[in-house]
Amino acid sequence: MLQKFLDLFLCAIIAATFPTASAASSLDAVGRTLFESTTLGKSGRSCSTCHPGGRGLEQVDDFTDDELKDIINACIRDALHGSKLAENAEELRALVAYVRSLKR
Ligand code: HEC
Repeated sequence: MLQKFLDLFLCAIIAATFPTASAASSLDAVGRTLFESTTLGKSGRSCSTCHPGGRGLEQVDDFTDDELKDIINACIRDALHGSKLAENAEELRALVAYVRSLKR
């Protein structure tokens, strides 16, 4: 009886965890593609031109998501000569998720 309850409990945890985990990692994947892409601006560069393998991004945990969005937009505008992304754009959220994932 107890075992059955535990099994059900485990299943519930697994079911509750997996969709979130895969949604988070697919956001990372979108972010990685953008990070390597030269299409965010007109400079012919990508984020990884200046931050190869996450160089210079070691302190990202010191910032909130909103602060990171501002910093990333500043890099897009000034370093990539691109247009800032909207605050709630999926691309911007993906880049935040990806730069955070570089720390893991
Ligand atoms: C032309 C070079 C260049 C490009 C391209 C560039 N950055 Fe940066 N980035 C910098 C510099 C310089 C800083 C600030 C100096 C520092 O502290 O490393 C910085 C800082 C950052 C920070 C804050 C890191 C910290 O810990 O202070 C983040 C996050 C970041 N960039 C993300 C990006 C992303 C995402 C892209 C692509 C959209 C990008 N950068 C493109 C040069 C660049």
